[in-house]
Amino acid sequence: MRGAKSSKVKGMENLMDKIVSLCKRRGFVFPGSEIYGGLANSWDYGPMGVQLKKNIQDAWWKFFVTSRLDMVGLDAAILMNPKVWQASGHVACFNDAMVDCKNCKARHRADHLIEEAVGNIKVEGLKPEDLDKLIAENKIKCPDCKKQDFTPARVFNLLFQTHIGPVANDTEPVYLRGELAQSMFVNFKLIQESARKKLPFGIAQVGKVFRNEITPGNFIFRTLEFDLMEFEYFVKEGEWKTWFEFWLKEMHRWLGVVGIDEKRTRVREHTPDELSHYSKRTVDIEFETPFGWKELYGLAYRTNFDLTNHQKHSGKDLQYFDPETNEKLTPHVLEPTFGLTRSVLMVLLSAYEEEMVPDAAGKMEPRVVLRLNKSIAPFKVAVLPLSGKLNEEAKKVWEQLSPHFTTDFDVTGSIGKRYRRQDEIGTPYCVTFDFDSQNDHSVTVRDRDTMKQDRVKITELVDYLKELF
Ligand code: GAP
Repeated sequence: MRGAKSSKVKGMENLMDKIVSLCKRRGFVFPGSEIYGGLANSWDYGPMGVQLKKNIQDAWWKFFVTSRLDMVGLDAAILMNPKVWQASGHVACFNDAMVDCKNCKARHRADHLIEEAVGNIKVEGLKPEDLDKLIAENKIKCPDCKKQDFTPARVFNLLFQTHIGPVANDTEPVYLRGELAQSMFVNFKLIQESARKKLPFGIAQVGKVFRNEITPGNFIFRTLEFDLMEFEYFVKEGEWKTWFEFWLKEMHRWLGVVGIDEKRTRVREHTPDELSHYSKRTVDIEFETPFGWKELYGLAYRTNFDLTNHQKHSGKDLQYFDPETNEKLTPHVLEPTFGLTRSVLMVLLSAYEEEMVPDAAGKMEPRVVLRLNKSIAPFKVAVLPLSGKLNEEAKKVWEQLSPHFTTDFDVTGSIGKRYRRQDEIGTPYCVTFDFDSQNDHSVTVRDRDTMKQDRVKITELVDYLKELF
């Protein structure tokens, strides 16, 4: 949910630089449109990044959707009738307050500016005049130029606008969706009836959303467009508390599935001032990043706010007919929400390790290893022929493995360098085809985490590896 407190974490100061550098070096994430000087806060996911993101998304879909009978999916259009965003309250309320530094012209999100400067305080949701008062009372200076000379705070709507048709002024603006939830609400009746679902049940979706953030940054943590995974879980009003606790537990279980270090997370309850316009109770799961405790995921009780508003504005009946009581009701909603691109960052922060290990001659050298959960690693296995002369035969091993595992075939550089590269992209197993392989029809399997090596018959390799996943 919007807003979060920050505090610096000791000993992790340059971890972000290391992650950003590794992401570029190894093809996880690149600065967007780099050859034209980039576009601030836009990022492109390279060969490793796209696979990691897809694996996280697939694991989420399996965990929360296909392994449950009470969940169904949706893939709705990004552009929706603008009335949707008026009814949902986003046109009026999806705002942040900003201030400009009159001296250096830097623009700041007012709540972040105060929270960073004052420390243990939560100010999200306060009116602009109250934010101005806090800035003055605490003598807050511009973090960029250290002067204390701000414009009054003013609110700013986060929805990106565009126009349909060739002449912009001829038409009412349409919005790039700022959250996924609204398409689940406007399709509620169609989905409930076509999927023949009874309460409680949920509608899940994964997709891009767009927000004109005032202060994006911290790499892929806060961007203008990002991927979201979320679901709306429809219940009877009296059952919301039970389901709230249930989904909070499931969200914690998910952290383990995806490989986010639970010890670096905490749950934070939203204060009444901070609650979104639609929510009666919200908690954030926060992660201790190198730039402070930050929101990773959110769980909100949205009451029946959205369905009620869409009924009012559309004039359509979105009520549910309860076959148990023969009565109509407007379901209440729990909403667990998961930033996908933010998950990528927290997975990388959880998995990144540096350690000293012996090289082939026994000399200690540093190695960087991404201890990704095996199920989400971009490559599960890499086949490495020891010499160019062995490429053809080693390729046959790749052909044997690739129907079962996403498998890399890595022929460039010394074997030590190739191990390091695979460690840095988190590949759990390297299979080395050496000169002995031609005679004993076996290969060496190296474990990313322990670096232990096993000799395995090529005919038994698929089964051997399957056992390890
Ligand atoms: N439907 C509710 C909703 O969208 P939110 O807290 O505003 O709630 C959901 O956003 C999740 O999206 C957050 O928990 C976070 O993981 C992620 N998120 C929010 N803003 C983001 C941004 N600017 N860049 C990347 N991820 C973001």
